[in-house]
Amino acid sequence: MTTLSLKSTPEDIARAGEILSRGGLVGIPTETVYGLAADAFNGSAVARIFAAKGRPMDNPLIVHIADFDDIERFKPVREIPEAARKLAEAFWPGALTIIMKKSDRIPDEVSAGLDTVAIRFPSHPVAREIIRASGTLLAAPSANRSGSPSPTTAEHVHADMDGRIDAVLDGGACDVGVESTVITVADGVPRVLRPGGVTVEQLREVLGEVEVDDAVLHKLAEGQTAASPGMKYKHYAPKAHVVLLKCGDEAYIDYINAHAKDCAAALCCDEDLLLLNVPCYSLGSRGDWSAQAHRLFDSLRRLDENGVTGTVYARLPKTDGVGLAVYNRLIRAAGFEVIELEEV
Ligand code: TXA
Ligand code: MG
Repeated sequence: MTTLSLKSTPEDIARAGEILSRGGLVGIPTETVYGLAADAFNGSAVARIFAAKGRPMDNPLIVHIADFDDIERFKPVREIPEAARKLAEAFWPGALTIIMKKSDRIPDEVSAGLDTVAIRFPSHPVAREIIRASGTLLAAPSANRSGSPSPTTAEHVHADMDGRIDAVLDGGACDVGVESTVITVADGVPRVLRPGGVTVEQLREVLGEVEVDDAVLHKLAEGQTAASPGMKYKHYAPKAHVVLLKCGDEAYIDYINAHAKDCAAALCCDEDLLLLNVPCYSLGSRGDWSAQAHRLFDSLRRLDENGVTGTVYARLPKTDGVGLAVYNRLIRAAGFEVIELEEV
């Protein structure tokens, strides 16, 4: 199959909508990462997403809406809990996905057999126009091959998906750079299953008590079930051997320079560039987690593009604010391998 390259023009957006309404697959821009979209109510179209990504069928998909009223119109959920209304008011449209009890309209392919469905209202204007043009709601995971870093440009999507999907619509580079925050309000205390651009601190301001799922920070024990099935799979891993250093800024520089012989590259910050004696991939300024989130996946992909296969050292991020999202992605890229040099 030839994969079409579409642009953010009214004609191409209409074309993307038409492909989707006929059961096709289109890579679409959102403010977080690119998604691989299909009609959420067409089980066989959704099944093709899993085939194109090589994604295990037990990993459910997020359903994307173009307006809050789409929930009333298409009825993907049984009811909208009070907590979901509060979250929607505070953070939608934006980088927050809310899990609720699903209605019978959601095919099993989307929910992977769970009784819940994840709903996201993206803020990216082109994403919303494509959803509207499709005349339906769109199920969309990140548009990478399963296990690879999520795509933050149309080029990333082409690199992973050419020949496997109908089209990619280029809406420019994604703003946030990491996937949405996923929170469940389906039962009990609201719980964050995946950290992202909307922080746990912000969620607590709106809801009061919010839990953070164990799998966000820690490796699941053998046999432990993941509340978010995606968390149990190896993720975001480049071919290089990523190792995280838990230490302050000086110790980080000293350790890498002392091990320069065995270090293929460093994932570092702008301030480190002149201090490190190894090839550097800067994520952004020290402590600027939003900048680091924005560049993280692109840097992991560039390691692969440049053929880096040796050891790559990175800092273990702090876990406050958007730092928690960077921590969650990097620790998976590193397969949970951390060297503790000193208390920080
Ligand atoms: O920013 C994003 O969320 C992007 C863009 C395209 O919207 N989408 C995305 O989808 O990251 P995906 O499929 O790559 O990640 C969705 C995560 C997975 O870890 C999945 O297991 C979890 O959300 N998830 C989806 N539905 C769920 C449900 N009903 N219960 C628990 N976890 C769910
Ligand atoms: Mg993904």
